Amino acid sequence: MVIGIPKEIKNNEFRVSLTPEGASILSTKGFTVLVERNAGKNSNFLNKNYEKAGATIVESRNEVFRKSDMILKVKEPIEEEYDLIRENQIVFTYFHFASHRPLLDAMIKSKSICIAYETVQDKKGALPLLTPMSEVAGRMATQEGAKFLEKPMGGRGILLGGVTGVDPAKVLVIGGGISGTESAKMAVGLGADVTILDTNRERLNELKNLFGSKVNCILSTEESISKYAKESDLIIGAVLIPGAKAPKLLTKNSLKTLKYRCVLVDIAIDQGGCFETSKPTTHENPVYVIDDILHYCVANMPGAVPYTSTIALTNVTLPYVIEIAEKGWEEASKSNDEIKTGLNIVKGKVVNKNISECFKTEYHIPDSLI
Ligand SMILES: NC(=O)c1ccc[n+]([C@@H]2O[C@H](COP(=O)([O-])OP(=O)(O)OC[C@H]3O[C@@H](n4cnc5c(N)ncnc54)[C@H](O)[C@@H]3O)[C@@H](O)[C@H]2O)c1
Repeated sequence: MVIGIPKEIKNNEFRVSLTPEGASILSTKGFTVLVERNAGKNSNFLNKNYEKAGATIVESRNEVFRKSDMILKVKEPIEEEYDLIRENQIVFTYFHFASHRPLLDAMIKSKSICIAYETVQDKKGALPLLTPMSEVAGRMATQEGAKFLEKPMGGRGILLGGVTGVDPAKVLVIGGGISGTESAKMAVGLGADVTILDTNRERLNELKNLFGSKVNCILSTEESISKYAKESDLIIGAVLIPGAKAPKLLTKNSLKTLKYRCVLVDIAIDQGGCFETSKPTTHENPVYVIDDILHYCVANMPGAVPYTSTIALTNVTLPYVIEIAEKGWEEASKSNDEIKTGLNIVKGKVVNKNISECFKTEYHIPDSLI
């Protein structure tokens, strides 16, 4: 099988879908890996690194799409790429169809095989190809929060860990799932005074076992959010209700009760945000101020650390890539339910229930097309 790695062309996307190490593993297994020239440059992976790994550098995006049986990407195809995708070609990437009807229509028209990272589900119901990006975003939330708490950045001028004789900053993490836990780990590491709120008692118990007395683990209610938010210097929103918009946990009115120039980091902004005053920002202009409260709401946080994110992504996607390449998408989907849950569109037919419900298109059971 020929596996193609195009350069990502979405604005501000610096990741690439495969590391040279990943390319080396695929080449050793006998697959041909085509990498578009400079596809990895923004992640610090150079053409010569891929060539050394056994991949072939090709000059144009068109050539990668034309010659490959499977296209491996990071972000969903954008308009310039729609017509390059052809019938029966496998496209394995983040699609997030529910938020983009034109993309759905284009992929239906292409009759390709669209396997979405974000719907690959393991036996426990977890989403293994979303996890690493949540980890990156969670860790970054604390790092960015600490940065914007500095006075020259507009924050209240407090050092997260304090120093001898001076209290550390108080960090509130709302939502103790994958990203929230990583935020808390970083904040604890920097010496902050950390509280996590979560609505799930079982999860709180796990967090208590993980952090011991280093973190305050409290049930999330309207009252507890209000109480801890008022005391906090940095508030990180990391909630998720699968398939739904994020609940609004801090209202515009409640901003008046918060500490002067404290920082809100809304990781959940890609699901609409969990603070009423949140609106998406970019890495160029990550922060805005309302009522003397800083809001950091970057919807694609991992994009700022493409080196780390690219490696983290390849680590989790590669086993699936190998299986699909070795068996073909049909046999791989038959023998591995995780790959089957990743199927979104097969030869022009929508095979994911949520997407068909979202756009009221006909739903086809994946088994009927395999
Ligand atoms: N901004 C970015 O760049 C970026 C990157 C990756 C992920 N995300 C987003 O971050 C969000 C969190 O992702 P995750 O992987 O950590 O989710 P997760 O499912 O692992 O964790 C979410 C947690 O929120 C808790 N929760 C739900 N409602 C709550 C409430 N009212 N109060 C307190 N806790 C509540 C859940 O019990 C769960 O423990 C998602 O919206 C995800 O899409 C954003």
